Amino acid sequence: MNLIVAVDDQWGIGKDGDLLCRISTDLKRFRSITSGNVLVLGRKTLESFPKKKPLPNREHVLLTKNLEYKAEGVTFCNSIEELPCVLEGFGEKDVFVAGGGSIYQQLLPYCDKAYVTKIHDTFPADTYFPNLDLLLEWEIVEEGEEQEDNGVKFSFVLYQKKSK
Ligand SMILES: NC(=O)c1ccc[n+]([C@@H]2O[C@H](COP(=O)([O-])OP(=O)(O)OC[C@H]3O[C@@H](n4cnc5c(N)ncnc54)[C@H](OP(=O)(O)O)[C@@H]3O)[C@@H](O)[C@H]2O)c1
Repeated sequence: MNLIVAVDDQWGIGKDGDLLCRISTDLKRFRSITSGNVLVLGRKTLESFPKKKPLPNREHVLLTKNLEYKAEGVTFCNSIEELPCVLEGFGEKDVFVAGGGSIYQQLLPYCDKAYVTKIHDTFPADTYFPNLDLLLEWEIVEEGEEQEDNGVKFSFVLYQKKSK
């Protein structure tokens, strides 16, 4: 399983239910990497999307414990334990854990590749991602050049879990 996330210098990922900042180059890359594949996301992250709706051209597996929660165009999953069985239904498609904080935290142990956009700045944040640079089982396998979009500097970094 893969994950995809944008972090700031402190590994902050969100504030007040929203992203720290919007980088259009990053959003385009997110679309290109995840299109045609499967996103696994928490209920709060879905609610942060435009009109609280799933994104086009992708399957969405929505984690919520609320059995009465209503959302169109998603596949519901009520626990992490249930997830492998739910994902079997998507066959060979690639799976991307797409947040938010609580879902990254719970699913990181099951991921082996992490597409991380490192934003070279620090924002006020209330939601964080584990610092992969401090986790011995993870290593950087690709690191892009620094880019700038609308005054925000960032780079794309691919982490992989070391094989044992
Ligand atoms: N920078 C990035 O790349 C990025 C990406 C995504 C999100 N974000 C940010 O992250 C923040 C949201 O993160 P968050 O941690 O507050 O919320 P979240 O992870 O998006 O959603 C939390 C909700 O997911 C459900 N959930 C969590 N664990 C579950 C489990 N084991 N089984 C079933 N359902 C489960 C629960 O929904 P119920 O309460 O309905 O049961 C829970 O309230 C926002 O600020 C968002 O913008 C950032």
